[in-house]
Amino acid sequence: MQKTRTKTRVFSGVQPTGNLHLGNYLGAVTRFVALQAEHDCLYCVVDLHAITVFQDPDELKYNTREVTAAFIASGIDPTRHIIFNQSQVSGHAELAWIFNCVARVGWLNRMTQFKEKAGKDRENASAGLYVYPNLMAADILLYHATHVPVGEDQKQHLELARDIAQKFNNDFARTIARAGYDGGFFPLPEPLITGPATRVMSLRDGLKKMSKSDESDMTRINLTDDADTIAKKIRKAKTDPEPLPSETKGLEGRPEADNLVGIYAALAETDREAVLRDFGNASFSKFKESLAELAATRLVPIGTEMKRLMADPVEIDCVLDDGAKRAHAIADPILAMTKDIVGFIRS
Ligand code: TYM
Repeated sequence: MQKTRTKTRVFSGVQPTGNLHLGNYLGAVTRFVALQAEHDCLYCVVDLHAITVFQDPDELKYNTREVTAAFIASGIDPTRHIIFNQSQVSGHAELAWIFNCVARVGWLNRMTQFKEKAGKDRENASAGLYVYPNLMAADILLYHATHVPVGEDQKQHLELARDIAQKFNNDFARTIARAGYDGGFFPLPEPLITGPATRVMSLRDGLKKMSKSDESDMTRINLTDDADTIAKKIRKAKTDPEPLPSETKGLEGRPEADNLVGIYAALAETDREAVLRDFGNASFSKFKESLAELAATRLVPIGTEMKRLMADPVEIDCVLDDGAKRAHAIADPILAMTKDIVGFIRS
């Protein structure tokens, strides 16, 4: 019997490293929510990834629950889909080890995110940070996931996951065929990098990505910010002296304007063209006022719901526990088959 994989499955992850921001929300979480209607989805709080940089243990627990709360408050339904934290499914670490032995050092050396995160003191970075993309490939492929919604910054890691899947399928072609799989064992996962806000930039520098780790809180809007804080951050966002253009071509070479228009478009679920039809030739002060109002309308209810959920950590832990059990049920047979294919004896 030939075995084929026809079903689509969505997988994505978010690190519990604090300060979930507008970039995470627009680049990833809103896409997660949208994909629920048509796909089976797994959304993972990737605590194993988080510890590639030292995390205070109490903060890690808090942040894991907070990302879970953000998923639920944003509209992900943990009863129809799966929300879980990575360390509860040991298959992630086991498959990552196998992938450490499939991926080439030369591939990892090309990863720009490692270079950025390790900085100048590369010798002092954890070994985990270096092999991080192999763990990310394991996250996805442990579930035979076919589609992975992410922001632009994860594109290179997704390409590596595809390379790992391809090399595994080639290296083990003989035992994969013997196991009856047609067209390879691991699917080549498709990145889904869509919408007007796949790379949200810092509010203070249109050439720098909005990031959890930026020292200044004024560079980002956090999901837990209140309406006044959101308004203040948007009012103080860097802009240029010209009014807004009426067509997208006029945003070229104006990174701060482009960023704010992209944020507006994503929050309003439209595109840059439509935003500029409404705000072309408007001053930034007028545009920022509308943007602050829109951002608060979208984000404040999420922040409020997150705080309500965080008041009951036992309930959040139940969601993660239930999600982990259901994730195990998908992962375990795939991991078992992977072990057979590689040549490990199982009892
Ligand atoms: P992380 O935790 O850094 O970010 C979570 C998601 O948010 C997106 N994102 C952004 N999108 C637009 N603009 C921004 N400024 C911005 N900043 C972050 C990220 O692209 C990501 O989609 N390695 C991943 C987590 C991960 C993962 C996975 C993702 C681990 N395993 C498997 C997909 C599949 C990360 O560090 O994301």
